Amino acid sequence: MSPDITYLSDDSIDAAGDAELRELLSTCFTKPGDEVFKTRRYWREPYKHRWVMRNEAGRLVAHVGIHEKSVEAEGEAFPIAGICEVCVLPDCRGRGYVRALLECVHGWLVEHDYAFSILFGNPKVYGSSGYVEADNLYTNEKGDGWKPVKGMVKQIADRCWPAGDVHLVGLKF
Ligand SMILES: CC(C)(COP(=O)(O)OP(=O)(O)OC[C@H]1O[C@@H](n2cnc3c(N)ncnc32)[C@H](O)[C@@H]1OP(=O)(O)O)[C@@H](O)C(=O)NCCC(=O)NCCS
Repeated sequence: MSPDITYLSDDSIDAAGDAELRELLSTCFTKPGDEVFKTRRYWREPYKHRWVMRNEAGRLVAHVGIHEKSVEAEGEAFPIAGICEVCVLPDCRGRGYVRALLECVHGWLVEHDYAFSILFGNPKVYGSSGYVEADNLYTNEKGDGWKPVKGMVKQIADRCWPAGDVHLVGLKF
């Protein structure tokens, strides 16, 4: 039987849920800087929406979060989902759980009128979920000018990814 996937709104998370999420995130993310997950359930900025997968015993085994963000291009602003904190417990990896979670997320994004989904990660992990590398994405995190950043994008609605420079508003995720 495949594990259950559920949507979690951030405001529904109680103290026990918070501890459970921090346990999952800090088990999966072990690079320098990832210690933040021991004390909070997000890397840099809180976010409203996440999907979690539980095994038959009810244990959290995988997670995907999304930030509500926007990009500006061609004089327009587009709502985007900033995919973050994608992780699977070490002993459950390689079973397609990331693909399964992202399929749920993408369905939700279609229903909620997002134009694009964007993430920063290993192209080999996300290619099979429809993400392609973008060479025209810029961030201005420090307010000292727009700088190119390597990201991956997936088209969610009818609009094609813009050909010109695309500015991601706010912090990376
Ligand atoms: C990255 C991570 C989420 C992948 O989990 P997983 O269970 O292996 O993912 P899936 O089984 O759904 O695999 C999805 C795809 O990623 C590929 N993949 C997974 N890990 C990979 C790796 N280290 N290198 C290259 N490809 C990888 C799989 O082959 C699969 O590709 P396919 O669909 O083309 O066959 C997991 O290794 C993890 O939690 N890592 C620690 C946290 C982290 O770094 N998260 C990523 C932040 S961007």
